[in-house]
Amino acid sequence: MYALEQKILAEGIVLSEEVLKVDSFLNHQIDPVMMQQVGQEFARLFKDAGITKIITIEASGIAPAVMAGLELGVPVIFARKYQSLTLKDDLYRSKVFSFTKQIESTIAISKKHINATDKVLVIDDFLANGQAALGLADLIHQAEATVVGIGIVIEKSFQPGREFLIDKGYRVESLARVKSLANGTVEFVRD
Ligand code: G4P
Repeated sequence: MYALEQKILAEGIVLSEEVLKVDSFLNHQIDPVMMQQVGQEFARLFKDAGITKIITIEASGIAPAVMAGLELGVPVIFARKYQSLTLKDDLYRSKVFSFTKQIESTIAISKKHINATDKVLVIDDFLANGQAALGLADLIHQAEATVVGIGIVIEKSFQPGREFLIDKGYRVESLARVKSLANGTVEFVRD
């Protein structure tokens, strides 16, 4: 997605060969216009897939997921990473290990928001090792619903997440694919 790549080139900060900081429009401050375009692109890619729901994970997945939900006209559920005061319902839970942070967390969604007839699009901000997307897909499978695809805003293609998820049979659509962060420079995958 050209506009997103330009945004990354203009505002992204390469923190190391593995980490890209985009807190001016995605991970801290949010650019609503950019997020609207991101939502439109996800909607274009998945418009014929019969999606009934979008699932993401707090916090940074919420903005792109809501914009995609607005475009597709479907509700958006965000999995909780922290215990909620009010979320006392029956929950689907899954464990997610972050290689980046070297911690395991439990994610959860209420059983009442998803059922076996749902066709679900998973959305997340970054794809690194694929563990967050896998955890979200696990929640969807527990509900016996269908994972239609996984939509990612920024994929780090030099990490194994994409192949890992494709090997498991999922359709993965990433709007920006970062091939390398070497020498302080962002290079994109060109197909
Ligand atoms: P994985 O889900 O693909 O396996 O990724 P991993 O566990 O390694 O990533 C853990 C967290 O770090 C996630 O956010 C992910 O979005 C974020 N992350 C991974 N690589 C980068 C990167 O290069 N740049 C930035 N900005 N973030 C990255 P999180 O902990 O869930 O945080 P948040 O959603 O609350 O912001």
